[in-house]
Amino acid sequence: MAIILSGKELSQRLLEEQQQEAGRLKVLGIQPGLAVVLVGDDPASEIYVRNKGLACEAVGIQSKTIKLPGDVSQQQVLDVVDNLNQDAGIHGILVQLPLPKHIDEQQVLRRILPEKDVDGFHIYNAGKLFTGQPGAQSCTPKGIMYMLHSTGLPLRGLHAVVVGRSNIVGKPIAMMLLQEDCTVTICHSRTKDLASMTRQADILVAAVGKARFITADMVKEGAIVIDVGINRVDGKVVGDVDYENVQQVAGYITPVPGGVGKMTISMLMQNTLEAACRAHS
Ligand code: GUN
Repeated sequence: MAIILSGKELSQRLLEEQQQEAGRLKVLGIQPGLAVVLVGDDPASEIYVRNKGLACEAVGIQSKTIKLPGDVSQQQVLDVVDNLNQDAGIHGILVQLPLPKHIDEQQVLRRILPEKDVDGFHIYNAGKLFTGQPGAQSCTPKGIMYMLHSTGLPLRGLHAVVVGRSNIVGKPIAMMLLQEDCTVTICHSRTKDLASMTRQADILVAAVGKARFITADMVKEGAIVIDVGINRVDGKVVGDVDYENVQQVAGYITPVPGGVGKMTISMLMQNTLEAACRAHS
């Protein structure tokens, strides 16, 4: 039976540290502030954004959500970002993805000042990650690395197989694992004989967006299995991993819910506190 890597427990522990950090900043006269831009009315995005606001409240970060209608123009979104860039009370700006199809996502992300880019999605910060330099890092992969480090296991030389090649998770987590001296394989929907790849994984990261896609026969005995998926099936939230069966084979496994998702929000709080600190240093 696998050891459960609980994002809930880790994020709870981090919350206390973050509350203290927010308190220290306040003594210095700094009130950390996060702005979240939500375009349209995707129900999943609305839930994520609400949870981000609640987390800010718990930590002691001031947050505001700017809701824009789904038919907003490119220029209107850019204007909102420009205003937030100029707002000295806002240290972090997050534009919730995905954006409606008519919006040029990359242009919006490039408009955010890199020092306020708490998502690490700006090409400047993505480039820093690619070249191994310190900078704001995407919250989900950063949270995954935190979970991996929490095991205390040396990661050097392990074979990490990442299933999924998104800019939000697949590509950045591959870079972070490489930075830790893992041997990294990136698989995706066009990969031939996926199971033969995943079975080689000492660390398996599932970020495909398909419910229970990774089955027990695809997992090596003792592997560390990281489930990034959040899928709704019959009103229930399930991951990309067939948890019940995979936990019999894996050495470590992250649950859904209460796994990676919790860490994503925790890392967003961390990035916002760090941005506030840097803005005043
Ligand atoms: N959509 C799904 N995950 C994320 C994330 O980490 N940040 C943003 N901005 N949008 C997302």
